[in-house]
Amino acid sequence: MITFLEKYQLNRMEQPLRPTPIDFHGVCMTKYFTDNWDNVQNFKARPDDILIATYPKAGTTWVSYILDLLYFGQTHPELQESTPLHERVPFLELCSPSQPSGVDLADKLPTTPRLIKTHLPVQFIPKSFWEQNCRIVYVARNIKDNAVSYYHFGRMNSLQPEPGDWGTFLHDFLEGKVVFGSWYDHVNGWREKKQTYSKLHYMFFEDMIEDCGREIDRLCSFLGLSPSAEEKEKVKIGSKFDNMKQNKMANYSTVQVMNHKVSPFMRKGKVGDWKNQFTVAQNEKLDEDYKQKMKNATLKFRTEV
Ligand code: PPS
Repeated sequence: MITFLEKYQLNRMEQPLRPTPIDFHGVCMTKYFTDNWDNVQNFKARPDDILIATYPKAGTTWVSYILDLLYFGQTHPELQESTPLHERVPFLELCSPSQPSGVDLADKLPTTPRLIKTHLPVQFIPKSFWEQNCRIVYVARNIKDNAVSYYHFGRMNSLQPEPGDWGTFLHDFLEGKVVFGSWYDHVNGWREKKQTYSKLHYMFFEDMIEDCGREIDRLCSFLGLSPSAEEKEKVKIGSKFDNMKQNKMANYSTVQVMNHKVSPFMRKGKVGDWKNQFTVAQNEKLDEDYKQKMKNATLKFRTEV
């Protein structure tokens, strides 16, 4: 019979150690996203690659799955059953001991176009994406729900630093001392890029919740796709929260480093869940912080739909 100590040691061996945050060129990062830096920076993007860029927990998986269904739902239905979404849409900068790096996965992708995920702030994007004039889909989510989702993700994912309690995490989040840095810098940095880079489609999690069909239409027109009404309906249904939550190839249940008993990856999928997490004082503090840091921003987020 396995003793408690053996079980503990086994878990320690199977789970990578939680990383320590580091200051990386002015952005909070961890080794799991910087250890492969030269290969990430030298990544050779192709003109038809599609980059899905987000601040963590803004709707990456949702949009990745929509694009995957739009491109490959009809042509490669077998992949839906056999290959987890995180392998079909590699996470470019990820470099963890338990899996192939994002760069390796992307280099070996058998399908075209390649769909590639990143959480990098705009200034860290490998230059080949700009040189090749790749299409980029950026998804942004309101700061309150984004922070709550990120907190629960930190609790369940051992590739994240220990989040501490909610109050501690929120403080770090507002200071930009969480992985991939400040939410403010991320959403604003990418928004500014849109002024000069026309192949960037900037979309919002809240709009997808409000009317996913409309957002799929907008994505299709950006990508130059014209699926039939029937195909579009399949994409819309397949990418519904409850269906993705049940889908082992899309819900991250196959990933070792995540403990879904602590908090499921597909957690709530709502706008306004922050009301169940924030105290009145925390909400007031965030509103004040927001006023200061988003002073000149043209970006408008909705915290309710
Ligand atoms: S990650 O780890 O950064 O890639 O996470 P990401 O996919 O960006 O964000 C996870 C949150 O998105 C929610 N989600 C959805 N909401 C509604 N509908 C669909 N189909 C959907 N798919 C993912 C997921 O539940 C996480 O949000 P929270 O608020 O934690 O539930």
